[in-house]
Parts: sequence; structure tokens; C-alpha cells
Amino acid sequence: MQIHESVAGLRAALKNANNVALVPTMGNLHDGHIALMKLARSHGETVVASIFVNRLQFRPGEDFEKYPRTFAADCDKLAAAGVDHLFAPAEAEIYPRPQGYHVVPPDDQDAILEGEFRPGHFRGVATVVMKLFQIVRPAVALFGKKDYQQLMVIRNMAADLNLPIEIVGGETIRADDGLALSSRNGYLSAPERAEAPRLGRVITKVVEAIRAGNTDYQGLERQAMAELQAAGWFPDYIAVRKALDLQLPPAHESGLVVLAAARLGSTRLIDNLEV
Ligand code: PAJ
Repeated sequence: MQIHESVAGLRAALKNANNVALVPTMGNLHDGHIALMKLARSHGETVVASIFVNRLQFRPGEDFEKYPRTFAADCDKLAAAGVDHLFAPAEAEIYPRPQGYHVVPPDDQDAILEGEFRPGHFRGVATVVMKLFQIVRPAVALFGKKDYQQLMVIRNMAADLNLPIEIVGGETIRADDGLALSSRNGYLSAPERAEAPRLGRVITKVVEAIRAGNTDYQGLERQAMAELQAAGWFPDYIAVRKALDLQLPPAHESGLVVLAAARLGSTRLIDNLEV
């Protein structure tokens, strides 16, 4: 695996590459990331991973400074997964001056769910992903369904801006007890880690109720919130939405997704399941 820290070095290395598949990450890699690398291998001839902790998508007071940085271990995992190129730029390479132009998702995607609780987050994500697309020029880019709203934002950005890039979504990879893998799981204490799978169980219950014919989505959301609160969580939202655009579903709609975000101690976890 070749490692590139500069845009120029990466571009030179990819000059004759065909059908590039890109997997953008912020590092601290786990099996969820690695599953995307392997999926990339089946979609592209040349697999490029990026590691860049993007300050623009963190709010003041969020975990930008303490976000886990484990570069050596990440390199070993990427090499073992058969990644061809790793782009790992320093901050000054991506933001040599304060970013002036931004990609701003429309309000109906940007200000809901995660965007309501993390204002500006998706503008930061869309902007850095657009920059990575311009730098790497992939034919395919892969994102996890774990971050369902992020995948939707990137899909719509690619469609609305006519990017010649196929966006592929990868399934959420979970620990044996059902907890969706996340770099932020490392912040959990041992008792919190034991409690954390409840988030997935609670949304599974909502999914099962909907599959059984319950269309009182708001009632199901309230019940799920109450169950988390009773177990000591601070839920931001449990939401039944249309999978395609994450807008509110009319009753009897098919193609739904249940999304959740909740804080356990000082760690904020998200998860979702398609109905
Ligand atoms: P990061 O959180 O490092 O995630 C990188 C990619 O891995 C994302 O597409 C994410 O959805 C996916 N992923 C994370 N956990 C997963 C899991 N358990 N199963 C499957 N896929 C999983 O998401 C970001 O970085 C950033 O916002 C980024 C897109 C790189 C822009 O900065």
C-alpha cells in the first residue's frame, strides 16, 4: 500500500489508475470501515482509502480534539484489507487557508435529525467529501449505512451536482451483542459498553412493530424514547422516516427506516435499521 500525504503525490500516483473506488474515513478503523474497503475492492480496480479528521464537521465543544488517532494500526488494517493507496493529508493540505466556499445541503436534509442536534455538521461533511472527490476523482465512492443521513446527503449532492461518481452504501457492521461498531464506542466505560446494545434493541422493537402492522409511528417513537430514558439514556431522537429522503412518512408507507441518536454518559451514539 502506498501512503500519500500530499494532493500532488496522490494525483501523480493515480494518474493512470482506472476505475478508482474511494472510501473516505476519519481513521481509528474498525471492522465496519474494513467491510467498506472490501466492498470497494469489488466495485473498483484501484482502491483508495482516506484518513482525515475533518475539523469542519465538528461543532465547538464536540470531540474533534480527543477524536482517537491510531495511524499506525490503521495502516496495518488497510494494507491487510488490500487497499492500494492511502491518502492521509495533514490539516494544512486540505485547508491551506480558511475554507471559503462550502457545499451546503438543503434545509430539508441539513436541519433534520443529526443536523438538528449538530448544526453545520452536514455542510462540513459535504464540503470535505466534495474536496476529496475532486482530489481523488473516483468512479465509485463508498459510505456506510451506519451514518444513514450522511449517505443520503452525499447521494443527493452527487445527483444534484452531476458528479460522475457512483455512490454505494455498505451495510452496518455490528459487534456480537448487536452494538453498531463506531470509533466513539471506545469512549464508553465498561458498564456503559454493556448497556450500549440497548439502542439497537430499542429500534429493532420499533421495526418489528411496524412490520407487524403498527402505523402509530409517533407512539412507537415515544415508547422507545421512554425505554431509553428509563435505562439512564438521554435520547436526542427516535424517528420513523422514509428511507429515500428521511422525511416524515404518511401512514402505510413502505420503505421506512428507524433512526436513533442518544447519549449514554458523555458519549453520543447513533444507529438505524431499515424496516
Ligand atoms: P468515519 O466515521 O470514519 O466513517 C467512515 C465510513 O465508515 C463512513 O461511510 C461510515 O458510515 C462508515 N462506517 C462507520 N461505522 C460503520 C459500521 N459499523 N458499519 C459500516 N460502516 C460504517 O463518516 C465519516 O468518517 C466522515 O463523516 C467522512 C465521510 C469521512 C467525512 O469526513
